[in-house]
Amino acid sequence: MRSHVAARPTPSFPLSTHRSTREKAQLCAGDAPRELTVSSAQPIAASSKKRSLPWCHATPLAVAAALLLWPLVGTAQAPHALTAAEQHQVDTLVSQMSLEQKLAYIGGTGFAARAVPSLKIPALEMSDGPYGTRSNSGFPSTTYAAGIGLAASWDRALASELGAGIGRDARARGVHFMLGPGVNIYRSPRNGRNFEYFGEDPYLSGQIAAGYIQGMQQQGVSATVKHFLGNNSEFLRHDSDTEMDERTAREIYLPAFEAAVKQGHVSAVMDSYNLIDGKHATENPYFNIDILRKDWGFQGVLMSDWDATYDAVGAADAGLDIEMPTGKFMNQANLMPAIKAGTVTQATIDEKVRHLLSTAVSYGWLERDQRDPSIGFLDKQNQAVARKAAQEGAVLLKNEGKLLPLQKQSLKSILVVGPNAYPGVPVGGGSAGVVPFHLVSGLEGISDAVDHNTTVLYDAGLPTMKNLSGHMILMTEAGGGKPGATLETWSNVDLQGAPASSTIVPGIGLEGLSLASLIGNLDSALATIFSSPPKAISHRFTGYYTAASAGKYIVILEDSGEGSGNRVFVDGKQVIDNWKLVRAYQPHISLDLAAGPHKVVVEESQTSILGGHLGFAIVAEDKVVNKRALELAAKADVVVMEAGFQQESESEGGDRTFSLPFGQAELIRELSAANPKLVVAITSGGNVDSSNWIEKVPAVLETWYAGQEGGHALADILFGAVNPSGHLPATFERRAEDNPTFGDYYPEEGTRVVHYKEGIFVGYRGYEKNHVEPLFPFGYGLSYTTFRFANLSVQPAQGAGASASFDITNTGTRQGADVAQLYVTEDHAKVERPAHELKGFERVDLAPGATRHVTIPLDARAFSYYDVAQKRWVIGSKNFTISVGDSVASLPLKAALTLASTNVP
Ligand code: BGC
Repeated sequence: MRSHVAARPTPSFPLSTHRSTREKAQLCAGDAPRELTVSSAQPIAASSKKRSLPWCHATPLAVAAALLLWPLVGTAQAPHALTAAEQHQVDTLVSQMSLEQKLAYIGGTGFAARAVPSLKIPALEMSDGPYGTRSNSGFPSTTYAAGIGLAASWDRALASELGAGIGRDARARGVHFMLGPGVNIYRSPRNGRNFEYFGEDPYLSGQIAAGYIQGMQQQGVSATVKHFLGNNSEFLRHDSDTEMDERTAREIYLPAFEAAVKQGHVSAVMDSYNLIDGKHATENPYFNIDILRKDWGFQGVLMSDWDATYDAVGAADAGLDIEMPTGKFMNQANLMPAIKAGTVTQATIDEKVRHLLSTAVSYGWLERDQRDPSIGFLDKQNQAVARKAAQEGAVLLKNEGKLLPLQKQSLKSILVVGPNAYPGVPVGGGSAGVVPFHLVSGLEGISDAVDHNTTVLYDAGLPTMKNLSGHMILMTEAGGGKPGATLETWSNVDLQGAPASSTIVPGIGLEGLSLASLIGNLDSALATIFSSPPKAISHRFTGYYTAASAGKYIVILEDSGEGSGNRVFVDGKQVIDNWKLVRAYQPHISLDLAAGPHKVVVEESQTSILGGHLGFAIVAEDKVVNKRALELAAKADVVVMEAGFQQESESEGGDRTFSLPFGQAELIRELSAANPKLVVAITSGGNVDSSNWIEKVPAVLETWYAGQEGGHALADILFGAVNPSGHLPATFERRAEDNPTFGDYYPEEGTRVVHYKEGIFVGYRGYEKNHVEPLFPFGYGLSYTTFRFANLSVQPAQGAGASASFDITNTGTRQGADVAQLYVTEDHAKVERPAHELKGFERVDLAPGATRHVTIPLDARAFSYYDVAQKRWVIGSKNFTISVGDSVASLPLKAALTLASTNVP
């Protein structure tokens, strides 16, 4: 998005001496068991084998002697609780740093924690993920299926494999901290970053996050769980103020972070941009200190999101360890006087440095080069992980008449069509936008999978935005004037006063520095127009569009989001409003226009005048679809349409439309009329409006952002080489209004406060409470085979725990995996509780006819709610119902449970 890539410095990868990555972690007897990195083939296996080191119970002298030998001793790849010797090493380093050095150390240098050469502390490199080792220079890396797809696999082991894959890629590049995973909860399909996260359920999110983190950290790379906390939308992300009650925070928004810390043992956490209950996340001691450090025992590094620090003392005292990307606030100039004045203590600064150095020592980063030359830069084994993740995440939503799997032998021709069919869209936009080495689109995947008897036809189906706006004819006057539009420019953000310039331009749009091309060289033009280049700028385009005939027209705007606002007026009426909130990167609406000229005004404001992009188009609804696509569809044996979002329409920094991008619903409808054998595959971070086409389409597959291998995975599923097994990690509503957050997603009128009024009733919890039946329920997903659940038995365990076991059988004729889901219901709750809460799951792969006996243990937390008055987890009564099945709306097994106790330890 605008300047997101350009503004980021390229991380430098240190080239220094290397020690083997296969060195083993060493433990003091009595230390807590820790995971050992032995082989990337066993990413999840933890070993508790221990070997005592001489200094574990040694005297200070022995410790000092051991320290001398330190560089010769093998170091851990995965993090571990520090030994006494390591603790001593950290203390020594902290004591050797001057206060000035420490204050410099707690501000980053772009994408790194700075080096302290005098103490042999290397720079600690950071890289965005979370689904590939993103390089800010655009250098490629393996690009995996994005978070929502990973969550749709419900496969903890896969999450660990994928984390390990990214960890290996990071080691090949010398990266210490990967900036992921993101675990913000999916409240609404509108959040532009849902694709990075793990869906609407706190338990599922936490389980996937823990697997991912363990896999990654075993490679000697720290994960960074983000964005802590309340960052569940992208509009106004620096300024929106999330207001949620304590119970909601504890039960819905915190548990995935909690699992990342307690179960995944994550070594870094990233604070978000937004405010929570009136305080910026980076200045919020309640979450950063009381919950993260004290309640959960987090020992690692708390970093800010990039430019998410707004006050030096506020952040320093609220537990932030390092300000990223630089110490704009937490620096010497601001903190030295604060220390002198006693508003920040030296001990507070020491603690931050200690968190950074302890993390570095616990991974052995001070002893070994993080770049591991034994790992290939383009690691082939990761390609297989990427493909597996794309396969397992895809959710088959509809398969009427068993259209899928397609029988290759009987197909003479397949039409592959749609804006996402070629090139593929591996990932959404923003900081998660990794560049793959190679990208397999659906067109390529399907072409690779068929033999010479089948012809694969292709058409994009729709024009591009550029195409449309290039062909749109505007006039400066109604029914006359000159061709083009009038562009007025202001040196302020809100079109105040007389415009600084007015000129006639060919159409409505700005491409990067196209302002410069419109008015000459940017610097000199701006210097001429304004005495000094402005920090903010606003534009108004005015032109007349002539509708050839009366009918429905699509009006589309495309803008690059954060830092800009835009709005559209047609015949004096505002039809698109993105002025204060970026409601969508690519809003589009349908308008009835009479034949003849219509006045069109597009206004845009930017707080950053360099870079950026603005596109605008109007097109008749019945002219938007490429006619050739329909002709081909009529002739083909089957049509596969790849619909969905792209980096321009679903991205960090802004939200997205619920409807598919412009023209796609029309294309689906027209294709289905041309050929009823239509499969629609959707690329998106969450649900889309399918109300005006779903009935007409027999087969629908949600593929999410499937990474570099998306095209192969799509073909694998279409032709039955892989049986779809993904299940929805978010409820798919019929209508946008059905979503429980519909009325409170945006800030309250005239404020920046986003009040999470639905409380704990997010996602399926809310649909069930509101008695609204979704289109596809949480946990739902079809398979080419069938499954049966039977023999549920639930036993109370000691204390407030229980154990549930049941059988699952593949009753069909194909190998396939189902996701067994266990939900808990309190029978006669005195405190309002959800009808169902997911508390256990298991992805089970079965041969035809095979049965697996599954046992799911449940601890006290599975039955608890958070009691705000008592400030603790509480179990209300002993009686619960346990339900098991393969979606929240399909729970064939139910059993009563009486707990032995209601004591929550
Ligand atoms: C994003 C983070 C990202 C950081 C560094 C921010 O804009 O919110 O998720 O890790 O940039 O690129």
